[in-house]
Amino acid sequence: MLTQDPKTGAAPDLEAADLAARNWRWPVPGTLPIGSEAHRDAACQMFFDTFNPYRPSVIDWPLLSDEARARLISLPIWDIAVQTEGKARLRMRAYAQSATDPAWRDAIERNAWEENRHKEVLSKLVSAYGIALAPEPLYHPPQDPEWAYLVTGFSECIDSFFAFGLFDVAKRSGFFPPELVDTFEPVIQEEARHILLFANWLAWQRRQLPWWRRAWFELRVAAVWVFLAWERIGLARGMATDGGAAADNNFTLTGSRSVSDVDIGVVSLMAVCLAENDRRFAGYDRRLLRPTTTPAIARLVCWLGSARERWRGKPSGRDHSEGLPR
Ligand SMILES: [Fe+2]
Ligand SMILES: [Fe+2]
Repeated sequence: MLTQDPKTGAAPDLEAADLAARNWRWPVPGTLPIGSEAHRDAACQMFFDTFNPYRPSVIDWPLLSDEARARLISLPIWDIAVQTEGKARLRMRAYAQSATDPAWRDAIERNAWEENRHKEVLSKLVSAYGIALAPEPLYHPPQDPEWAYLVTGFSECIDSFFAFGLFDVAKRSGFFPPELVDTFEPVIQEEARHILLFANWLAWQRRQLPWWRRAWFELRVAAVWVFLAWERIGLARGMATDGGAAADNNFTLTGSRSVSDVDIGVVSLMAVCLAENDRRFAGYDRRLLRPTTTPAIARLVCWLGSARERWRGKPSGRDHSEGLPR
């Protein structure tokens, strides 16, 4: 749980900060044409206004039972999580420094800072619970900042979507104490803000480019998705010599068994992810764009799952999260 600063004695109004991080309206009424200056200003202002000022150094990590601690330690995510935050910070900063528009530059620079704060939260957590990490690799600034930002942004769109669902499953399963779940809540919501910013940057960027540069940009976006599919779905699994690393990368797709004792299945997990995705974005101005690709794939998986059940003569439209406490 996030507590007051022991040095200054200041007690931040955590509830107000949390509320402000989840709810935001652009005060100017009317439409917000995508690609306009107003659209850019709204997206960047959202990012600054919803900043949550929590400090990793004063997080009060709750005491865990031996069982809960063993479960936490056994999650196969800690190395990849720390390294992903480290890489995201560097890549976002590199893109921010290369950006010509000062509003995006400042917002993406702030995003990079927040990734570093996530890394700090994780490093405090692993030391609080005695989780052993592999030595971190050296992080190198990317040669191609735009490509690196696209890879990081779309990766976050995929990972955050599944993290929303897995976090809800973990919360409802009672596999981890509520205090620990509460401690991570601001970090998960922060990822929702990050992908909200990315989705709006992407749409804005598309509208700014002349057609010949736009065509090249779209090719790069398609190539990023191919790269991520190669990485995530494991089309080149045979090339992976480290099975552990492959499992870590796919945790967001396969992790429900690690955070609950209910095997809810892929279709059910997608349904939970979709519901949580809607809930986490519900408080932000409807005129800002939301990430769409991963939710669309999840909706397709749900539709295929329902069609398969109907074909087998089973009732469709059941609650996919059945088995989990409310
Ligand atoms: Fe992060
Ligand atoms: Fe992020």
